[in-house]
Amino acid sequence: MKKVILFLLAAVTVFVVSACGEAETVDIGISMPTTSSTRWISDGYSMKEQFEAEGYSVTLEYAQDDITTQVSQVENMITKGVKVLIIAAIDNQSLTDALDKANDAGIAVIAYDRLILNSEHVDYYATFDNFGVGVLMGQGIADALDLENEAGPFNIELFAGSPDDNNSVFFYNGAMSILQPYIDSGKLVVLSGQDEYNQVGTLRWDGTVAQTRMENILTSAYSTGEVVDAVLSPYDGLSIGIISALRSNGYGLESGDTPMPYVTGQDAEQASVQAIIDGYQGSTVFKDTRTLAGIAVQMADAIINDEEVITNDTETYDNGERVVPSYLLIPVFVDESNWEEALLDSGYWQESDFDLE
Ligand code: GAL
Repeated sequence: MKKVILFLLAAVTVFVVSACGEAETVDIGISMPTTSSTRWISDGYSMKEQFEAEGYSVTLEYAQDDITTQVSQVENMITKGVKVLIIAAIDNQSLTDALDKANDAGIAVIAYDRLILNSEHVDYYATFDNFGVGVLMGQGIADALDLENEAGPFNIELFAGSPDDNNSVFFYNGAMSILQPYIDSGKLVVLSGQDEYNQVGTLRWDGTVAQTRMENILTSAYSTGEVVDAVLSPYDGLSIGIISALRSNGYGLESGDTPMPYVTGQDAEQASVQAIIDGYQGSTVFKDTRTLAGIAVQMADAIINDEEVITNDTETYDNGERVVPSYLLIPVFVDESNWEEALLDSGYWQESDFDLE
C-alpha cells in the first residue's frame, strides 16, 4: 500500500511539474504597432484569444507608433523567454538587432502583415496579397471613372503609405499597374505634378499629414476652377483626412455643385464604411484580420510542435537577406454595392455599428 501511495505521489508530482513547465515555457510575444486604428486592436486580440484557446500564454503589446518603444517591448519579450515572436513592425529596418537577439535565444519570428527587412532571422510572413490590394484600388478608380470608355481627361491625386512600411510600395505598384497607362496616355492627369512614389508617401500612415498635403494640393493646383475627380488613398485613416480637406474646400454632397471625387481606402474601418454608406468615400479594401490572425496562430503552433508550416508563396517577399516564406490571403474590394454582404454577413461589423438613415 505504502509503495502504491509513493508511486501515485511521484506520478502526481511529475504531472504537476510538467503541466507547470509547459505553461511557463510555451509563450508567445505579440508586438503590434498602434491602437490608433481598430484593425490592429482586432489583429492583436484575435491572436491572443486564439492562442489562449489552444492553451498558450501570450504577451501582447502595442507601441503607439513609437519605434524605440516597439524595440524595447520586443526585447522584453525575448527576456521573458517567449518561443515565438509575432511582430507587425512600425519601421521595417529598426528591428535587426532585436531579431539577432531573438535568434541567439532560439526564438522564431513571424512578420505579421508588414515584412521586416534586412534580417535573416525572419522565419515566416503572414499577410495579404499586397500588390493585389493596390490593384483593387486602381481598378476601383478605373471603373468609377469608366476610363476604358470615357475620353477624360480626369484629374487624380496620388497618396502612398508610410515609406518605412514595406507594404506601401506594393500597394502603390499594384494601383499604378492599372493607373499608369492612363496617366501616360493623358486620360488621367496629376495636376499637382506629384506623381513619383517618393513624392507621395505619408509618414506613419498619419491622416493629418495626408489632410495637410491634400489641402496644399488643392490650394496650389486647383485654385483656378479645376476639380479633383479621383484620389488614390491606400488606407482608410488617410482617406478620412483627405475627405476632410476636400469637404472643407467645397467638395461634397451638401455643397451640391462639386461632387466628391472617387476616394479609395483600405481596412474597412468603421468610420470609413460609414463614409461609403454616406457617399463620401468610393471604396475600401477589406482584409479580414481574424483570418490573418488565424494564419499567424497556425504558423506559431506548427513551429512550436515542430510541424510543417503552411505557406503559399516562396518568391515574392525578399527582405534583403532572404526570401521569406509567406502565406498570402486574398483581399476583398468593398463599395456601396457589397458592403453589407462583405462586412455584415461575415460578422466583421454589425448593422448597429452604422447609421443607415
Ligand atoms: C499597413 C497595412 C494596412 C494598413 C496600414 C496602416 O501595413 O497593411 O492594412 O493597416 O498599415 O495601418
